[in-house]
Amino acid sequence: MDKTEKLLEVRRKLEENAAKLPLARKTSDTVPGEGNPEAEIMFIGEAAGYYESIERRPFVGPAGKLLSRCLESVNLRRSDVYISNILKVRPPNNRDPEPAEIAAYKPYLDAEIRIIKPKVIVTLGRFSMAKFFGPLVRISQIHGSPRWVSWEGRQILIVPMYHPAAALRAGRVMADFAADFAKLPHFLKLATHPPIQATATKTPEPELDEQLNLI
Ligand code: URA
Repeated sequence: MDKTEKLLEVRRKLEENAAKLPLARKTSDTVPGEGNPEAEIMFIGEAAGYYESIERRPFVGPAGKLLSRCLESVNLRRSDVYISNILKVRPPNNRDPEPAEIAAYKPYLDAEIRIIKPKVIVTLGRFSMAKFFGPLVRISQIHGSPRWVSWEGRQILIVPMYHPAAALRAGRVMADFAADFAKLPHFLKLATHPPIQATATKTPEPELDEQLNLI
């Protein structure tokens, strides 16, 4: 299977399992990730909002429009990158994701990361930041400062950024968000030279069903 087929398989499993997943009752409640299977940069947001749940596409509402404008400002298009979310559904009244919900959708997001193998992951907001840095870090302290993270034996440059919806709410956050985004081409260059890991071991990639805890 090539990357496109593997991503389609993840989407198919998500849709097939909708009834068993929190906050989803049917296939049409799910919002899969989308973008370039060969993307070097992956964006991870929090959860679908109103517009995303209607279109079943990530970041298509006002926050998504800002994300698209910022991508254009660094000569990137949505079709160059991959965009996904921690939760592949819309929480009621856009409330924060709960730990059990994050855990339930984790296998799908992890499968996407494993397939895409991005050099850079931009986390948008505190919930996707916490996936890589834990719950104790503060976004106001580390936004725009990338760190190498060893994820399943691969070094990925993780760039924490504010959530674009937060940028739309406050001018100060917007200025930081725009400044962090402007550095993205530089971070991508940096990511082409990951630090050598003395103890790096390559674990065999599990079958997709296994990754999604389906077998
Ligand atoms: N906010 C997110 O975190 N993700 C989306 O897809 C849209 C808005």
